[in-house]
Amino acid sequence: MIRAIVLAAGKGTRMKSSRSKVLHELCGRPMLWYVLNALRRAGISEILVVANEELQAEIAQFGVASVLQSEQLGTGHAVRIGLERLQPHAGGRIVVACGDMPLVTEAIFRGMVGSLEARDGDDAVMSLVTVKMPLPSYFGRIVRRDAAVERIVEVSDATPEQLEIDEMNAGIYAFDETALRDAVTRLSNDNAQSEYYLTDTVSYFVGAGKRVRPVLAGDHLDVLGINDRVELARARKEMNARLCAQHMRDGVTIVDPETTYLEPDVEIGADTIIYPNTTIGRLSKAGTACVIGPNSRLSHAMLGDRVAVRESVVIDSTIGSDVAIGPFAHLRSETNVSDRAHIGNFVEIKKSKLARRVKVSHLSYIGDATIGEGTNVGAGTITCNFDGEKKHQTIVGSDVSIGSNTSLVAPVKVGDGALTGAGSVVTKDVPAGERVAGNPARPLPQK
Ligand code: UD1
Ligand code: MG
Repeated sequence: MIRAIVLAAGKGTRMKSSRSKVLHELCGRPMLWYVLNALRRAGISEILVVANEELQAEIAQFGVASVLQSEQLGTGHAVRIGLERLQPHAGGRIVVACGDMPLVTEAIFRGMVGSLEARDGDDAVMSLVTVKMPLPSYFGRIVRRDAAVERIVEVSDATPEQLEIDEMNAGIYAFDETALRDAVTRLSNDNAQSEYYLTDTVSYFVGAGKRVRPVLAGDHLDVLGINDRVELARARKEMNARLCAQHMRDGVTIVDPETTYLEPDVEIGADTIIYPNTTIGRLSKAGTACVIGPNSRLSHAMLGDRVAVRESVVIDSTIGSDVAIGPFAHLRSETNVSDRAHIGNFVEIKKSKLARRVKVSHLSYIGDATIGEGTNVGAGTITCNFDGEKKHQTIVGSDVSIGSNTSLVAPVKVGDGALTGAGSVVTKDVPAGERVAGNPARPLPQK
């Protein structure tokens, strides 16, 4: 049985924030989300987070158990609190990770656990991830003797010679549970920071004749611990580059990954092209051969195939296939646009349903409306949906011709095949096939 304890109770003083550090976001998700995600992908689903009060108040969103560490007395103390909460399990494994390491990968956890499990004739009770890093560094140093790991020295306790060591402790470990339960009760806080260091378990095990297995991580960015907003920005850039790379490998053309901002769990079909300054997030989906951007934002937007969204914003909306949107359109709140529709320049649409082949090409506001198949909405048309207190519906049928600058004063219905003249102010329902014009709009004489 493998369980994980994620340490996240630290104050995160250097963020200078009223929020818990691990709740700060990169690419649309809190740091902690990424760590939990990597653990779960590595097959470790029983996770306990050691939290402070601010984090505990918001922990529900992560779907994990948590335990409060009300005083931050060090990483060793934090693990001890975690273990007190977990039912003992002889022969179990405990993975310890930090919640402020969003770039950590599933592979790192798998490699480390694999190393502890490997039965190489010695009785290893711990494995840990180490990493080569440019100096100076605030990470604990790995002190080796005859190639074997002997102890970890924290920077504040290190001698000048030890500070020259360029192999660091990443802060990710796997332990034999029984050995860990014993070791954490033996830690002392007799050190420069007067903290209980989890890292002292290494010298304790080695002193007792046990082995500690190091696993060298290839890329130090993978174990970058975020302490301030400068490091957060670095991690965000790296995370975004990874997300873009994944989509490009899956067949999406991203013209400039440096200015394309993606979130996890976004789906984009092959042969879609994304132009610069574009953000795609909140579980958005795009089909194949779409063109998105430049200068566009998609948030919880569901696009079919061959949709073009140019210089536009699409939020909480569903778009069919072969639809062109923009430049400079704004679709939001439960808008639903069907196949082959066209939404042009300076058009805002909210809570509306547009059927197939509807055209709203210029300078319009469509709110709380239903528009039938093949209808053309002329330039400058406005649905006057708000009477100062309530929102009202506008229902327009199929193959209707709405003249330029029509005001549709809701609640109002325009029947199939009807027509409104330029500048009409439609205050009453228009029957199917009727032609109206004027303010207020009245039927035109029959031709
Ligand atoms: C720790 C390691 C160091 C390693 C570095 C990697 C120790 C003593 N040192 O140092 O060797 O190179 O991580 O990033 O472990 N936390 C708690 N409760 C506490 C203290 C810390 O939950 O009482 C949490 C923090 O929120 C953080 C993690 O533990 O997520 C690490 O603590 P931090 O104070 O950042 O340790 P470092 O000094 O970075
Ligand atoms: Mg740290």
